[in-house]
Amino acid sequence: MKSWQVLRYARPSDALELVDLPSPEPGPNEVRLRVLAAPANFNDVDACHGRYATVHPPLPYSLGMEAMGVVEAAGAGAESWLGKRIIATTAQVQGAYSEEALAPTDMIFEAPESLGDAEAAAIFFPFHVAYVALHVRGALRAGETLLVHAGAGGVGSAALQLGVAAGARVFATAGGERKLAFCHELGAELAIDYRAGEFLPAVLEATEGRGVDVLLDLVGGDVTEQGFRAMAFNGRYLQAGFSGGIEAEDTGLVPRPILFGNFNYMGVMLAYGDALATKRAAHINIMPRELGLQVQESLNLLLAERRIRPIIGERMPMERLPAALEQLASRNTIGRVVLSW
Ligand SMILES: NC(=O)c1ccc[n+]([C@@H]2O[C@H](COP(=O)([O-])OP(=O)(O)OC[C@H]3O[C@@H](n4cnc5c(N)ncnc54)[C@H](OP(=O)(O)O)[C@@H]3O)[C@@H](O)[C@H]2O)c1
Repeated sequence: MKSWQVLRYARPSDALELVDLPSPEPGPNEVRLRVLAAPANFNDVDACHGRYATVHPPLPYSLGMEAMGVVEAAGAGAESWLGKRIIATTAQVQGAYSEEALAPTDMIFEAPESLGDAEAAAIFFPFHVAYVALHVRGALRAGETLLVHAGAGGVGSAALQLGVAAGARVFATAGGERKLAFCHELGAELAIDYRAGEFLPAVLEATEGRGVDVLLDLVGGDVTEQGFRAMAFNGRYLQAGFSGGIEAEDTGLVPRPILFGNFNYMGVMLAYGDALATKRAAHINIMPRELGLQVQESLNLLLAERRIRPIIGERMPMERLPAALEQLASRNTIGRVVLSW
């Protein structure tokens, strides 16, 4: 089978090569899917550079953490998934940009029937991350104000839609006119070009000086420091990504503005599985599988009611993966770029 592998750490067009590999065999509680579509995922850009902090496999390895496809083989305990159309986080978050990939049953969901392959591929990370952030962690309520950074992006565009569906007043930041217009199209009351200047004055003006109740930060760095000053009393600041540069992760916290702000600074990480075992082994908190099923059910309802939709900015053949990842890294994408074999 064909598989895109990272052979050396570099920008995607230098790091990746399409190679031939044997079909992977699923272990217990794992499935092998025939990949039909996979979205360009920002974490995979970082992985090409060797700076993705969550998982750091030795070279060479097959890239890709998120895929859609049909289950064609199942390990012990996973037999009931055979033949099903699924969306998946891949095993060890590797191999999604391959013709076949493995995935643990804790991190797969049935693809919504109403969605085509590319549309289904586009929903998993954006809508699960945004739903967990806004509802499980951030407890967003109708009538509250929500600010989403990088609002025209994959996760951002999902969060804007979920915020509107929840009855919040939604504000967004994004870079450039085209993205601002798209944020408005998704229901943002205010869309601010944070590349053109500070977003804080516009946010304070729109909230009569109060600041926002909930802020979803997918960017990090300077955007975070300014965001701390945009928070309302008792607000919830959700840190869910660092697309402004993974190095932004290492600048450390700025505790004084958090103290001054009287708000909650919260982390968000998407992973479902055996929460206690993971806590013991890695000292991190993942979420139980049951919660993932509830999130997917809520998303299915919102999809059926047409209150949310997958956003595909562009479709490409899988052979163009390096170009798709380069485009994502250079801030030129809206929603998701979905690749298909
Ligand atoms: N917490 C979790 O479990 C989890 C899971 C999945 C993804 N994530 C994170 O969520 C974030 C969004 O992921 P995504 O796949 O949906 O990507 P994306 O938002 O579609 O693309 C990244 C966007 O970030 C903005 N950005 C700001 N500074 C940038 C910079 N220096 N370089 C590149 N982009 C920059 C750009 O939008 P503008 O041009 O509008 O600024 C860009 O379009 C990423 O940080 C990702 O790691 C977190």
